[in-house]
Amino acid sequence: MDLDDELRVFSGNSNPELTKAICDYLHIHLGRARIGRFPDGEKIVRVDDDVRGRDCFVVQSTCRPVDEHLMELLIFLDCLRRASARRVTAVIPYFGYARQDRKDEGRVPITAKLVANLLATAGADRILAVDLHAQQLQGFFDIPVDHLTGELILARYFEAKRIPDLKVVAPDVGNIKTASRYANFLGADLAIIHKKRLSGKVVVAADLIGHVRDRNVLMCDDIISTGSTVCTAAELVKSEGARSVYVGATHGVFAPGALEALDKAPIDEVVVTDTIPTQEATRQVKKIKVLSAAAMLGEAIRRIHMNESVSIMFQQLTERGKAPKKTIPIGPSSI
Ligand code: R5P
Repeated sequence: MDLDDELRVFSGNSNPELTKAICDYLHIHLGRARIGRFPDGEKIVRVDDDVRGRDCFVVQSTCRPVDEHLMELLIFLDCLRRASARRVTAVIPYFGYARQDRKDEGRVPITAKLVANLLATAGADRILAVDLHAQQLQGFFDIPVDHLTGELILARYFEAKRIPDLKVVAPDVGNIKTASRYANFLGADLAIIHKKRLSGKVVVAADLIGHVRDRNVLMCDDIISTGSTVCTAAELVKSEGARSVYVGATHGVFAPGALEALDKAPIDEVVVTDTIPTQEATRQVKKIKVLSAAAMLGEAIRRIHMNESVSIMFQQLTERGKAPKKTIPIGPSSI
């Protein structure tokens, strides 16, 4: 079967390098398209490859500038649908607007649902996303969603480091399940921080449930945005006697001020994936390390195209010791 003929993978402007790496993984050429602007600022997408009857994927993270990347993705989907693609999958390594997923006060929107509706209306037949902040976001879509996680890439990295006396710490109660998967995978035990968020930028790491004295701490989160969550959590575990602090998070959103905060915080290493481009972050802050999600996304695209299981890729995370006989390539240590 000739993937290069049947499968088309296109890139929006958010992650050209990641998309190129996905195409390299799949041994196919990057779909040819041009994204331009009219003089008044409106965007236009022109697809140069023949897509009629093809299985098409568009890779676009809705990271900063969020609205521009979102609109570009919607235009791309519309363009492919009108060009008679057989199936169009929106590959969204980082799904912006995911955190506004409920009305927790009066007169506020639920933007995660709004964006889900927009994607389907624009022409997406399927969604392929990574760590959507909350599993239940999948239910916001009436089209199939394949939900990947960066956790296995990060957990394998920390496993290879063989950190002694490891304690996995959930920096807030929302991360307990994530942290317990890491702890299970790494054979470490777990502590939990009770976080209070006072505003979008200000959080207080109020209580630590568990002990970290003389332990090396690994904190895991899905997103680092302002950095407040992991920085305040790091200060708390340090004040409670932790020897060192490592942070693993799938999405390095790094809102303004985050890099300075991470640089100053008592954190030894911050590891993220390339679901969002991080060139500026790694240039500014030496303790930030970036692992690629390209093999994971490439393998998922191949499996979707071939109608093979996607969930089996993550079996190791939940069923350590009962791993599939064949190691499925999703990251550096499995290649
Ligand atoms: C919270 O629910 C999330 O899991 C993250 O902890 C949060 O979004 C991180 O945001 P920040 O870096 O701004 O504290």
